[in-house]
This record gives sequence, structure tokens and C-alpha cells, in this order.
Amino acid sequence: MSLEMDTSSSSQLTKDRNQGIKFRKSPKLYENRFGIGVLVVLLFAITLGLGIGIPLSKRSSGDGSGTTGPQTALQRAQTLLSNNPLIDGHNDLPWQYRQYAKNKVYTVDLSQDTRLQWNESVPMTDNVFPRIPAQTDIPRLRQGKLAAVFWAVFVSCGSTQKDAVRQGFDQVDVIHKYVEKYPTTFDLVTTAAGIENSFANGKIASLIGLEGGHMIGSTLGLLRMYYQLGCRYMTLTHSCDTPWAGNYKTDLADPPVTKGLSEFGKIVVKEMNRLGMIIDLSHTGIDTQKDALMTTQAPVIFSHSSAYTLCNHYRNVNDEILNMTRVNGGLVMVNFYTGYINCFPSNQTTPTLSQVVDHIEYIKDYIGIDYVGIGADYDGVDLLPVGVEDVSTYPKVFEELIKRGWSDADLIKLAGGNFLRVFKENERIRDTLANDSPFEDIIDQSQIPFLNCTTSF
Ligand SMILES: *[C@@H]1O[C@H](CO)[C@@H](O)[C@H](O)[C@H]1NC(C)=O
Ligand SMILES: *[C@@H]1O[C@H](CO)[C@@H](O)[C@H](O)[C@H]1NC(C)=O
Ligand SMILES: *[C@@H]1O[C@H](CO)[C@@H](O)[C@H](O)[C@H]1NC(C)=O
Ligand SMILES: *[C@@H]1O[C@H](CO)[C@@H](O)[C@H](O)[C@H]1NC(C)=O
Repeated sequence: MSLEMDTSSSSQLTKDRNQGIKFRKSPKLYENRFGIGVLVVLLFAITLGLGIGIPLSKRSSGDGSGTTGPQTALQRAQTLLSNNPLIDGHNDLPWQYRQYAKNKVYTVDLSQDTRLQWNESVPMTDNVFPRIPAQTDIPRLRQGKLAAVFWAVFVSCGSTQKDAVRQGFDQVDVIHKYVEKYPTTFDLVTTAAGIENSFANGKIASLIGLEGGHMIGSTLGLLRMYYQLGCRYMTLTHSCDTPWAGNYKTDLADPPVTKGLSEFGKIVVKEMNRLGMIIDLSHTGIDTQKDALMTTQAPVIFSHSSAYTLCNHYRNVNDEILNMTRVNGGLVMVNFYTGYINCFPSNQTTPTLSQVVDHIEYIKDYIGIDYVGIGADYDGVDLLPVGVEDVSTYPKVFEELIKRGWSDADLIKLAGGNFLRVFKENERIRDTLANDSPFEDIIDQSQIPFLNCTTSF
């Protein structure tokens, strides 16, 4: 969720569900069978081509408009994404359920077009936020070839020190409910291996990301409870400070406010390492990013942020932090939101898919192919560039990258390979810390505003 409350629209369970479905026939199996068919036809064509090789190649080097020519870039993109998992670091569908359906999953048919169900006439739960056109449903997810997604648990900054914790648990629950409602489409997943299993079974691996430290009420106990409910990353802040971490808006203040992680904030990071919960630095301030990068043992992610040098919004990652992310072995998952893609200095009158690809290429060229991924932020933003309007459009992004000369190996890393590496490394570090006891630190109570809302620590 990148939109802010002020409307100035600048915006997994401990038990894996993968066991027990190994022998079920799935769409993926049919796709594979189809793939073998294509292979046979291809082999036949190659054999034929060898026989009449020279004349054939002469013919195809003509005007290039022949219908029997090689795969188009879009077809190549689709084939690549059928064979390799595409993982999106951030999708706010749970927020849409809250806004349009009061989390009543059984009043919504996700197998049908959500644009028709969540139209202008449907009242919203929270009018402080702008209306977001529905960007996610099962048909469009399938068209977009998405293999895995982090569903975002987002609640407003306005609920801080009020009912943020209650709303956070409700948003975890809504994810569990809709994942369980569509068992042939979704798998609730909490491990890297779970993503790979789901993909092999033709299902969309559904992971949970906690988008904002305000939902843990400044206690490590709640952090651990969210982990037990399946959350596998936590964004340290949303667009508001927690008593222990500063958000990106601290970088906007003039003079700039210096506010990174407090001592308790550093313990939160260490406890996340111990749990194997990925640290997400989207929405955080630069000092928080530096403090977290210097404290963590495991690679971090930016689950939905783009490149600051191409668009000078503080939600984007600047070059110095990009360098630190490379050293950390982390990952920047590019956000498609118009407000983060199309601003100074590369702003265009009409924001385009090509600019999204510019951000992806910028990060690859600056720190390397191993540190860039996709975190489009669908259903958390109201404006998107032409060509990437909803979850059906990922293959078009890959088509453009193919046209720009990207190798299959690089495309596979961008799609999901890099995220799987980061996730596995977080799991490995968790395993090395298996003998450590949980941190039992308590935040300095003087750091909590409105202490009169609580009875004791
Ligand atoms: C708008 O959505 C409501 C609730 O899902 C539905 O009953 C109604 O038919 C929709 N209207 C249009 C014009 O699609
Ligand atoms: C990032 O690292 C590169 C390569 O070491 C270096 O040339 C560049 O100056 C660094 N950028 C910043 C902002 O520190
Ligand atoms: C891009 O942003 C600059 C600075 O804000 C502005 O002067 C310029 O008109 C913008 N260009 C376009 C095409 O919107
Ligand atoms: C709680 O404390 C805040 C200051 O921290 C104060 O503004 C507010 O009025 C207090 N509320 C109650 C109900 O005492």
C-alpha cells in the first residue's frame, strides 16, 4: 500500500499446505504436457529445417513479418514465466477486501472480474483513502502468470496506538480466509521450498507480509505471534514512525530529522533474524535503512520500492542504499506505482511500462542482476503507467526486457530467483541461530506516546 491517508495521492501458517497435494492433477501438469508437445513439434521443425536449411533461413530473413517466424518476445516471456516462478513482493488485495467487503470473503467471487464487483457504487470502509480500481482477481493472476505473491497486511497509520493490532490480526485472517476459499488456486506458504512446491503444482503460493511495525504494538511477543500466523516479512514502518523506527517522511523534513532505529528497534531486527522473518525496508527512512542494514545478519528486501535516481521520491531507494543492499545481499523489488516511476528527472507526460523497465534496468546496471525483483504494489495504488494496469500485465514487462536484450538467466533471477535466494538465506541464518533464546527485551516505556492507552508494559 503506497497511498497515504491524506488523499494527496502522490500511493502463511506454521504448517505448510503443500503436503497432501502432490498427486493432484494440476493445470501446471497440463502445461508441462503441452510443453512437451511444443518440444516435439520444435524438434520436428528443426529436423525439417536442417534438411532444407539454407533456403529456409534465407526465406525467414526477409521482411520478418512471416507468421511462421520465431516466437515473438511476448511468447518468449510467457514461456519463460510458465517454466520459472514469478514472485511479486507486494499486493494489497487484503486491503480491497477491507475497503469494499468489510473482509467478508464469501460475498466476493475472486474467480470473476473484481472490477465489476468493486465498482464506484460500492461504499468504502475508510473514506480517508482514495478509491482504488480493482487490479487483482484469479483470471488476471493466471493471465499474468504469477507464481507467488506476498499479500500485504496493511492497516492505516491512523490506527497507531489505537486498534492497529486488532486490525492487523483481522487482515491476516482475511488472507487465510480467501486463500482457503480457493484451494485449487492458492496455497498458503511460509517457506522458500513451499513456493517451489506450489509452482510445481500449478498453484499460486500465497505468502503474508506485515506492512508496518505499528501492528506489533512495540512488543516482541506480537512480532512472534504474527510470525506464527504465517507472516514472513515485516516492513519496519509504514509511512509513520513507530516508537522504535523512523519512516521515509523523516527524510522530507527541513531540516532533516535524524531518526533511525532505537536500541529496541535493533533488537526487533535481531529477533526477526532469529525467527527467519525477512526485514522489509520499503517506507522506512534512510537512517532506519542504514541502521537495519548494519544490524541484520540476513539479506533485507525492499518489497515495493523503485530507483530514487530515476524518480526522486523518498519512497524510492537511493544509490548509497543500493550499494549497501548489494553488500548485504538483499533485494529491491520494483514498485510500478506511477508516483514512484514517473517523477523528476525522468518524468513523462504519459507514464509508461517502458519507464518501469527503466527502473528495473537502472538497479541491475548499478548494483547487478542479483539484487532486483518485482513488487508491483497492485491494489495499493490508484495510478499505474500505461501497459501495467493490473496483475495480468507482468508478461509485458518481461517482453520489453527481452526486446532490450536481457538473457533468460537474468530474467529468471528478476522474476523469482533472486527472491528465493534471499528467502533461503534468511532461513539458513535462522537455522544457525536455532539455539538462541527469544529476545525478551521490553521497550523503554518513556518512548511510547499515549501510554495512558495501555495498562502496563
Ligand atoms: C457494482 O457492484 C455491485 C456489488 O458487487 C453489483 O451488485 C453491481 O451489479 C455492480 N454494478 C455494475 C454496474 O457492475
Ligand atoms: C556505489 O558503488 C559504486 C561502485 O563501488 C561507486 O562507484 C559509487 O560511487 C557508489 N555510490 C555511492 C552513492 O556511494
Ligand atoms: C518534469 O518535472 C519538472 C520538474 O518538476 C517539470 O519542470 C517538468 O515540466 C516536468 N515534465 C513533464 C513532461 O511533466
Ligand atoms: C493521554 O495522554 C495524552 C498525552 O500523552 C493526552 O494528550 C491525552 O489527553 C491523554 N488521554 C487521556 C484519556 O487521559
